[in-house]
Amino acid sequence: MKVGFLACPGTLPGPGPRRGDAFEHDLEVAALRPALATRGLELVEIDWRAPLDEFADLGSVLLGTAWDYQDCAAEFLARLDALAARGIRVCNPPEVVRWNIDKGYLAELAGRGAATVPTLWHEDAGRAEIEAALAHFGADRVVVKRRVGAGGEGQHSFTCDTLPEADWRMGRPAMIQPFLPAIIEEGEFTFVFIDGRFSHGVNKRAAMGEYRIQSIFGGHEAGYDPAPADLATAEAVMAALPFTDLLYARIDMVRLPGGELAVMEAELIEPYLYPEQGPDFGDRLAEALARRLAVPAV
Ligand SMILES: Nc1ncnc2c1ncn2[C@@H]1O[C@H](COP(=O)(O)OP(=O)(O)O)[C@@H](O)[C@H]1O
Ligand SMILES: [Mg+2]
Repeated sequence: MKVGFLACPGTLPGPGPRRGDAFEHDLEVAALRPALATRGLELVEIDWRAPLDEFADLGSVLLGTAWDYQDCAAEFLARLDALAARGIRVCNPPEVVRWNIDKGYLAELAGRGAATVPTLWHEDAGRAEIEAALAHFGADRVVVKRRVGAGGEGQHSFTCDTLPEADWRMGRPAMIQPFLPAIIEEGEFTFVFIDGRFSHGVNKRAAMGEYRIQSIFGGHEAGYDPAPADLATAEAVMAALPFTDLLYARIDMVRLPGGELAVMEAELIEPYLYPEQGPDFGDRLAEALARRLAVPAV
């Protein structure tokens, strides 16, 4: 059986220019391809916008590195629905993507008791909302980000001294948080879960002068063996999710000034899953997928 690894023109290998983080696509494919092959599953890299006919012989698709749908979320969701309607097993499924695509889900997790970053939600944000947030949080720096966004794109950070121009607007639904200094001091902690179980941890640090930890902004990562209390906080986030049968989940956490980790994002769509820090990642994911597809275990 063939398994599609959804990608986008910026991450797919080929003659065209690739994104600065396309090497992550290659690392994931390198980890997954042999592990799937062992189980009789052939990994096929495919642009998520490819004509539907090109998906005809796929039994399943992984959302992979489809990292360019932020400005066309409806089109992306419609494509996943169309694949599912053709009997292709979409991992994670469209209903999970629909729930996870707008960071408003963080408010839902907070309501279920998960530790979250304090957040103000707005249909749009401009200078007035930034000033109000600085006062509300009693913070000297805030981060404003898109509710539908990824990879740190379209995100801004302001202080009382570096407010935006009076006519500046995000121009879309936005969320504002106090800037957490722990992101500079110790970075972000990622907890990768495969089939609901903790697989491996990653500590992600920003480049000098940056606060966004993504590799595309010069961030770097290292393996991370979480303390039991920190792992328990991430597991509590997993328990607060309204889904139980997730093939993969990535819980990103940052420490609050009080010392407790808080969830920055619960990434259930197309997270990079850090195969370099999880040597068993390929096997674990392939095994869990094979089980879902009822392929005999090896
Ligand atoms: N409140 C915050 N305080 C400090 N850094 C932040 C904050 N929010 C976001 N960041 C930084 O920006 C990065 C991207 O933000 P995030 O919420 O993870 O959105 P996404 O990854 O979907 O773009 C984070 O990984 C972190 O480095
Ligand atoms: Mg993130």
